[in-house]
Amino acid sequence: MFNHKTIAENIYYVGVNDRQKTLFENYIPIPCGVSYNSYLIMDEKITLVDTVDASMVNTYMDKIRSIIGSKDIDYLIINHMEPDHAGSIGLIAETYPHMTLIGNKKTFSMLDGYFHTTNPRITVNEGESINTGKYTISFYMAPMVHWPEVMVSYIPEIQLLFSADAFGTFGTLDGAFMDTQLCTQKYWDEMRRYYACIVGKFGKPVQMALQKLSGLSIHTVCPTHGPIWQRDLAHTISLYDTWSRYQAEENGVCITYATMYGNTQLLAEAFAEGVIDGGINKISIHNASLSNASYILADVFKYKGFAIGGPTYMNECYPMIENIISQISHRGIPDRLFACFGSKTWAGGTLKHMTHMAETLQWQQVAAPVDNLQGVKEDDYKAAYEAGKSMGLALKALE
Ligand code: FEO
Repeated sequence: MFNHKTIAENIYYVGVNDRQKTLFENYIPIPCGVSYNSYLIMDEKITLVDTVDASMVNTYMDKIRSIIGSKDIDYLIINHMEPDHAGSIGLIAETYPHMTLIGNKKTFSMLDGYFHTTNPRITVNEGESINTGKYTISFYMAPMVHWPEVMVSYIPEIQLLFSADAFGTFGTLDGAFMDTQLCTQKYWDEMRRYYACIVGKFGKPVQMALQKLSGLSIHTVCPTHGPIWQRDLAHTISLYDTWSRYQAEENGVCITYATMYGNTQLLAEAFAEGVIDGGINKISIHNASLSNASYILADVFKYKGFAIGGPTYMNECYPMIENIISQISHRGIPDRLFACFGSKTWAGGTLKHMTHMAETLQWQQVAAPVDNLQGVKEDDYKAAYEAGKSMGLALKALE
């Protein structure tokens, strides 16, 4: 019942779309769904590359069987052990007990923690290869893109790379899996959000992997999520390069605020008006109580300017703002222009956390923090407007 379309001669897509899950890793919304990509190489040795989330194992096994029939699988290459890809290893290994598992030393130490398998194993090191008949498959380590055991697999004969999470994105594959067939417009924002949330902390390891891969001639990239890249490959690599260098894509500002009774929101509005009058109109405003942190993080990667505001809450940060500060700090995003504003009714507390984040990340503060007491008065509104204008002017000066 399945259409057997190939990526290259004897290489099949056997991944699945997840349209059921609402939260990836149980905290990141995926309104466009996600695909778990797996690949089957029907060479003299039948080789599977990665598996899928355990929740989709039945469809996955049906797809594999529709191609291999009653034959055995000879090899399973495990590029990444996170359960969205490794979740079906236990069942596949049990179903095909003679299948040889291929991974590196770290792969197998994780595998033994998740599964009890008695299948034969081949432990591969950097640059080593196996032969499947017509094809050679070479292995290159890509630690911390996204976990320490991650490796990528490369077929030199057709210049095809199985890239694990690298170059992946949220978003299901609707009717096709090759970028040459899909309208890829819907993926770019989701790819940024995927990158910011999943890989955003690991800029240096991504840069090291890109450096390593630059020595290979690559025509096709098969990631573990999202489209297979050929037509848009150069654009995809360029985006990953920009994000892993933490370079902003747009000379604009992300304004993130939280508000309890509307006062901090007024400051955010005033700040945005100032940004416009400073000459910048690329503005993304998030109410942190409504926008999931993943969308805010994506915009911190996208824009050069970042402003944050919120009320003092129990002498500290408002919870949603504390979460945003923590998530940005964990990713160590450098080189942004920064401003902050806050509201309080008696004692303050939130601004010190905001400025501490900016100082730790060595961000350039373009204006003094705006410290509002109780209701927003004309002076407070004007101070937030002027801070926004300083941000706009500072961004404009970069053009
Ligand atoms: Fe898609 Fe790190 O797993």
